[in-house]
Amino acid sequence: MFYSIDGVDGAGKSVQIKLLCEFLSNRGEKVVLCRDPGSTFLSEELRKIILHRDDLPTGRLAQMFLFMAARAQLVEEVIAPALAAGQTVVCDRFLLSSVVYQGYAGGLDPQLIYNVGLAATRGLVPDKTFVLDVPQEVAVSRMTNRELDTIEREDAEFKQRLRDGFKAESKKHPKSIIIIDGLQSIEDVHAEIVRNL
Ligand code: TYD
Repeated sequence: MFYSIDGVDGAGKSVQIKLLCEFLSNRGEKVVLCRDPGSTFLSEELRKIILHRDDLPTGRLAQMFLFMAARAQLVEEVIAPALAAGQTVVCDRFLLSSVVYQGYAGGLDPQLIYNVGLAATRGLVPDKTFVLDVPQEVAVSRMTNRELDTIEREDAEFKQRLRDGFKAESKKHPKSIIIIDGLQSIEDVHAEIVRNL
């Protein structure tokens, strides 16, 4: 099975990813954890370029293709082989992030991004994506005390559009994209994810 966890920055992904991986391992699954963009040499290099190179002005389209290149390599090197070996993959973000961040929030056509994404992943999409949903004000308040990356420095309007974007995509794919109320306690969010596995 292939799971991804998504949501706005500050929604609480990291702790839920950790709990999910522990849960799956405890029930005997061999779990491969990865992050998008990242988890291969090329994808981690692209991640640095996309998120931390203010000296490299990058348009929306180029940015979207950089995310896709990182993702193509992640699928080929890590995710596809793991699934072929019968392992369970948990990925911190995946194609849905591109559809929502570069599409709904960034102004590119979400459907175009989805189609490019299917080419990049050779049609591979997660069996389930859990979207942790919190109001933008809460997300921002959880993100203090650290340096913001390129995407996190986008303006308030961009960030406001993210939440609706995730909801719209969940409506389109109700069986595979599950919205979870991220205001619940850590334990309750985890329990809801487990119920939906
Ligand atoms: P994330 O890994 O959640 O960052 P952190 O290290 O802060 O936990 O995500 C990195 C950023 O990239 C995040 O702001 C979302 C953004 N992003 C996109 O805009 N498009 C994408 O396709 C992906 C995968 C991430």
